Amino acid sequence: MPNQKTMESFNQQINEEIFSSYLYLSMAAYFESKNLKGMAHWMRLQTEEENMHAMKFFDFVLQRGGKINLSKIEGPKTDWASPLEAFEDSYKHEEKITSLINNLVDLSLKEKDHAANAFLQWFVTEQVEEEANVLEIVEKLKLAGDHPEVLLMIDKELSQRTLTTTPAPNN
Ligand SMILES: [Fe+2]
Ligand SMILES: [Fe+2]
Repeated sequence: MPNQKTMESFNQQINEEIFSSYLYLSMAAYFESKNLKGMAHWMRLQTEEENMHAMKFFDFVLQRGGKINLSKIEGPKTDWASPLEAFEDSYKHEEKITSLINNLVDLSLKEKDHAANAFLQWFVTEQVEEEANVLEIVEKLKLAGDHPEVLLMIDKELSQRTLTTTPAPNN
């Protein structure tokens, strides 16, 4: 029997991961509108990553014999004052996701759901990486300040991003 409380909270996390995907897609559109193709590319890949996160939870719930209950996805913000503001929002969002993952870990311990706990360890590590990646970009954008040539250099650098994800324990 799957643990009902864990399964419910994992369903909620599917929603959070899909919302993350939606938020980054909205940021991709913002960067496209500013002709910052490298940043748009980076955000498109971020969207794909978040979809993969959602699917990991989806597959785990099914594997445990739990029920999938998909809920309504909130609409993301659609405009930002600057690239820095968008990446700062992205960083704040990742911090929020990290705290949600930590809550899920706490729940798995409380419920003695060891399978869920093992599954979640991948996400604990992933969030460290996610926060570090975004923070690095935030810091670079702060250094760029009002220099468009530096902004374009960062944009070029971000256009090089490729998808690299460590496999989840259930894959
Ligand atoms: Fe995620
Ligand atoms: Fe993320």
